[in-house]
Amino acid sequence: MALLEEINKRRTFGIVSHPDAGKTTLTEKLLLFGGAIQVAGAVKSNKIKKSTTSDFMEIEKQRGISVATSVMGFEYRDLKINILDTPGHKDFAEDTYRTLTAVDSVIVVIDVAKGVEMQTERLVEVCRMRNTPIIVFINKMDREGLDGFDLLDEIEAKLGLTVCPLSWPVGMGQRFQGVYNMYEQKLVLFRPHSKQDELGEVIEITDLSSSELDEHVGEDAANELREEVNVLTEVYPEFDKQEYLDGALSPVFFGSAINNFGVKELLDCFVDIAPTPLPRFTEEREVKPLEDKFAGFIFKIHANMDPKHRDRIAFMRICSGTFERNTNYLHVRQNRKMKFSNPTTFMASKKEVVDAAYPGDVVGLYDSGNFKIGDSVTEGEVLHFKGIPSFSPEQFRYVNNADPLKSKQLAKGLDQLMDEGVAQLFTKEINGRKIIGTVGALQFEVIQYRLKHEYGASCTYEPINLHKACWVSGEQADLNDLLSRRKRDMAKDKDGNLVFLAESAWTLQMAQENHPNVGFHFTSEY
Ligand code: G4P
Repeated sequence: MALLEEINKRRTFGIVSHPDAGKTTLTEKLLLFGGAIQVAGAVKSNKIKKSTTSDFMEIEKQRGISVATSVMGFEYRDLKINILDTPGHKDFAEDTYRTLTAVDSVIVVIDVAKGVEMQTERLVEVCRMRNTPIIVFINKMDREGLDGFDLLDEIEAKLGLTVCPLSWPVGMGQRFQGVYNMYEQKLVLFRPHSKQDELGEVIEITDLSSSELDEHVGEDAANELREEVNVLTEVYPEFDKQEYLDGALSPVFFGSAINNFGVKELLDCFVDIAPTPLPRFTEEREVKPLEDKFAGFIFKIHANMDPKHRDRIAFMRICSGTFERNTNYLHVRQNRKMKFSNPTTFMASKKEVVDAAYPGDVVGLYDSGNFKIGDSVTEGEVLHFKGIPSFSPEQFRYVNNADPLKSKQLAKGLDQLMDEGVAQLFTKEINGRKIIGTVGALQFEVIQYRLKHEYGASCTYEPINLHKACWVSGEQADLNDLLSRRKRDMAKDKDGNLVFLAESAWTLQMAQENHPNVGFHFTSEY
């Protein structure tokens, strides 16, 4: 059956890391293996550069360019692999959370010298909420870093993962000689700055006590490796594919992305074990990839940075059936039929119009403002995909109209920017004032700039002291009680859901104590 074949060929995943751990470098090396790009640097040049992080327009521009790297497809061992790009910049963390709803597994990159960093913790937490299968790649082994065992301890403690090393380094930094691949029982010797066709020398060593090991790495390193592998087999669980697929066990690999070392081992193992496109849950039912009828959801919307083209690209993950070009589909929220004449797929830097796409694929749909994040598109069934929550913003400001003649433009602009997921808008119950909430300070400038340039509207901000926005749940009577007693702290989000705006951790705690039957949630889905 053609659909089953297409589904079995697909692996859709994301690479996550704290900025600078090597995500872009690893992505690039993977694409080189797949032949999707010919030269190193093709992805890198699209990256938001560190030097310009204070210049928000530059970042927006680069984000505009990086639309090309939103999805990077390549073929390897007859499989079609889709890497979904996740912005590393912390101010765009919510983009990353949402992208993670569209992947079936992730690779987490950790810098051996820095260990587990903050952004990695948060991203892995989001993956764990959904039991997403995780492979860990410890990068920069050509540099001095933390001891391997300490690092595994830290990963278990800080990321809450149960790990299972499938490769183990022989030395590190200056003394780094390679890795022993326990998954395939091979010693892979390190050659700095290997080119793509010059992989490290691979030596089959099924028995570590063999003197062959000493010949290649020297007696001391060989003995150390034997001891360490002994400890590893005693301390860590054996690899079990099902446990990995359940999100309960994470294989760990060591390597050096820049030197193209350990990347092939990682990729080979990945294609062996990573899940094929997984079912997705909707409020109505589970949607399985093999179903005949097509269904998908929008997880990301990207504005066109060219002011002459106001259209946007909505990225849709195909969840079931076959998506076809120029076919009538139902836009569930708007309850209307839509046809897409030029759905686009991305093969690294190349864009192509596609006639058909299958579960696990992501297509870009040109959109003039009809979509918002979380929207479903189906062959007619009313489905609402779950797992695309909003997270409580970290920063809040009142937004005021600075040009009374342009209030319509401001409302429209804000509406569309919120649909894109740039920030969240809350309307206070008591006086109808509007509050914008964001993850990072950068978005406030982005919004102001885009309102002016794309919608001709002006806004000013006013500070407001808020700690968190909490979506509330409970019986209507309890919610009414909360509403009447805390009216000045209550607001509605853009979809009309009731939200408690907590001034501090203490006010939140008080509200929880005084309203024990009300649930307070930091995400819009609970
Ligand atoms: P990111 O996407 O996670 O933010 O990281 P990125 O790949 O951009 O890598 C961050 C820096 O780490 C880059 O150096 C990159 O060259 C370096 N790097 C990546 N992998 C390795 C590795 O295996 N070993 C070593 N020693 N370095 C590695 P940069 O100086 O910031 O940028 P560039 O000038 O090299 O482009």
